[in-house]
Amino acid sequence: MSETKFKDIARQIEQRIDTGVYQPNAKLPPHRELAAELETTPATISKAYKLLAEINRVESFVGRGTFVVGESQLNQAIQPADNDTEFNFSILQPYVSQNLASLRTAYQKASMTFTPELLAYTDHSGHLPHRKAGAIWAQRYGLKSASTNNVLLTNGAQHALSLLIETLTQPGDVIAVEALTYPGILAIASLAGRQVIGVDMDDDGLIPSALEDVLNSHKPKLVIAIPSHQNPTGITMPMQRRQAIAIIIENSSAYLVEDDIYGFLNEDTLPAICHWLPEKGIHISGLSKAISPAMRCGFVVAPDHLLPVLNAHIRANIWLASPLNFIVAEQLINSGEAFSMAEAQRDIAKQRQAIASKILGAMISESDGYHVWVTLPAHWQQERFVMEAKQRDLIVTSGSYFSAGDSSPNCVRLSLMSIKNNDALTQGLQALKALLESHEVSLAPF
Ligand SMILES: Cc1ncc(COP(=O)(O)O)c(C=O)c1O
Repeated sequence: MSETKFKDIARQIEQRIDTGVYQPNAKLPPHRELAAELETTPATISKAYKLLAEINRVESFVGRGTFVVGESQLNQAIQPADNDTEFNFSILQPYVSQNLASLRTAYQKASMTFTPELLAYTDHSGHLPHRKAGAIWAQRYGLKSASTNNVLLTNGAQHALSLLIETLTQPGDVIAVEALTYPGILAIASLAGRQVIGVDMDDDGLIPSALEDVLNSHKPKLVIAIPSHQNPTGITMPMQRRQAIAIIIENSSAYLVEDDIYGFLNEDTLPAICHWLPEKGIHISGLSKAISPAMRCGFVVAPDHLLPVLNAHIRANIWLASPLNFIVAEQLINSGEAFSMAEAQRDIAKQRQAIASKILGAMISESDGYHVWVTLPAHWQQERFVMEAKQRDLIVTSGSYFSAGDSSPNCVRLSLMSIKNNDALTQGLQALKALLESHEVSLAPF
């Protein structure tokens, strides 16, 4: 290889970035493919990518490939709506307008109960009545026995995930996740220097034999699973599968983190996997998806022996999760209103799923949660589809953001709940359908 060849190639790639041929956050072609196109060797491409990484134009992720530096992967995957003209199908949240009046009243009522004690520093695991409310919530949606003593309060499920990843694993350790998973988990692992390994899934979720293979071959310290209305596939693990997964983890040296943030969407309550793993299962739930993500109320239920290390981490990081929001959470849970709000969201999700199913038909997987997983027709490549949709103010999330490995199915995820009403939802889905069926593209090829 000539000394300057890779610099020439890097310059060519940079030019493509500058001219928008490779968009911010887009995945760059695999070494071999680009080498063939630019008539060079994969080793030269590798050196060029390395050079571009040094000057912060691209970022490489082990097992996932090289991406143009732009916004963070997580920001790109999940974009808050920034204007009214956009159909934001990227953000998985409840239909918040539904809860506005109840939350206004609840926060007003809660403020009348403030006491000096509640406004002061308190025990880092939080006030006992707030933890008791967390136990009631987790039990209502599948964790059969949750003792108040084992409940920890967090600032949402995302904080719970980072707490558990950072306390139960060390830098360099392996974490097993579903082959397609919530990008927030991948972002924490990447920031914290943990490796992720994807476990194959079928229509019932994690495949037991695939999990067993990964546990034997990679010795992960942690398995993270999303058992209900999985993000992004929408799969809910049936009871037998949950039990099979529990048995395998029980016989390994790994802990299970069960992120059941969507458990309240199950029409019939399913037992949590943690139910069969009293010493090795840590359960996450919270109010972000049922009531409002702005409350940042997460509940972790962990076995006794992990409580000291988890409490120490919470205290070192945030001292404690804001008690003011948990006052509201406690009142809503104890009065039963939280459960009615969750049920109303479930009904809205069902209505919206029916609209999506009518418009997109067989292109989407059957689901009754907040989102659908769309298999793109063969003439569409996922990143290209996302860009073309964006040109039409339709914000959707590419399947590649959810992949724990090198490849991902040619899919996109659509959240149905952040669109302002059913008419707008219908309009947005019809525009997406037209795009799915169209062979015309407006951007330059890359
Ligand atoms: C599976 C999963 N876990 C955790 C979260 C984050 O939840 P929270 O807003 O409570 O931090 C999300 C948000 O989309 C999610 O889909």
